[in-house]
Amino acid sequence: MATSFAPEPIRKQVVEAFSDAEAPAYAQFGTTDAEGNSQIRTVHFHYLSELDVLAFNAHVRSPKWAHLKANPKASGCYFDTKRLIQFRFEAEACCFADGGGHDPLLDSMWAKIRPDVRAAYWEDQSSSSFDVDRRCSTLGVIVLQPTLWDICTIAMEDYRKGRRVLYRNRKGVWSEERVSLLHGEAPPSR
Ligand SMILES: Cc1cc2nc3c(=O)[nH]c(=O)nc-3n(C[C@H](O)[C@H](O)[C@H](O)COP(=O)(O)O)c2cc1C
Repeated sequence: MATSFAPEPIRKQVVEAFSDAEAPAYAQFGTTDAEGNSQIRTVHFHYLSELDVLAFNAHVRSPKWAHLKANPKASGCYFDTKRLIQFRFEAEACCFADGGGHDPLLDSMWAKIRPDVRAAYWEDQSSSSFDVDRRCSTLGVIVLQPTLWDICTIAMEDYRKGRRVLYRNRKGVWSEERVSLLHGEAPPSR
């Protein structure tokens, strides 16, 4: 069985945060360019229930696409202001481009894009007439396989009541480690 994108204790939290239509998961996503510089931008993460994956859309000629084709290691950070949870992760990213014909992953992700953004994809192709319901061949989808989740739950009334837990995936097995809110070591015992 393929490794899940998140360990069982946080799976429900991740699914809810990354599929909330009222509070879209606009998150920062980091890649490394050919010169070794880190590059960061905002993307809209989605949980796709029908395929049970975490993914986002990207143009296949975008710099981030080229970075990931050369180096699939990536990172992300999303502060969910509704749930007061910071989701940080390290991941291996897998790039899926149009292979012609029906593709459940690309079709589902195209359907999630706003019509005006879909129109921008078509206009970029210099298409004078187009149908936004038809998927543009320049759509790419990036699927994330996190290897580390750093889940920081914030207590607004008292920072010390927050909680931070690291989940690491080694050879398909998730481990769990509670760490300090201030550094990566164990929290003081009270
Ligand atoms: C709220 C918000 C959501 C965005 N969502 C996406 C997205 O899902 N996919 C995407 O490719 N770019 C998205 N962008 C645009 C990127 O931040 C970025 O400007 C663009 O993709 C070019 O990035 P690159 O040059 O690093 O490839 C979004 C920008 C904002 C402000």
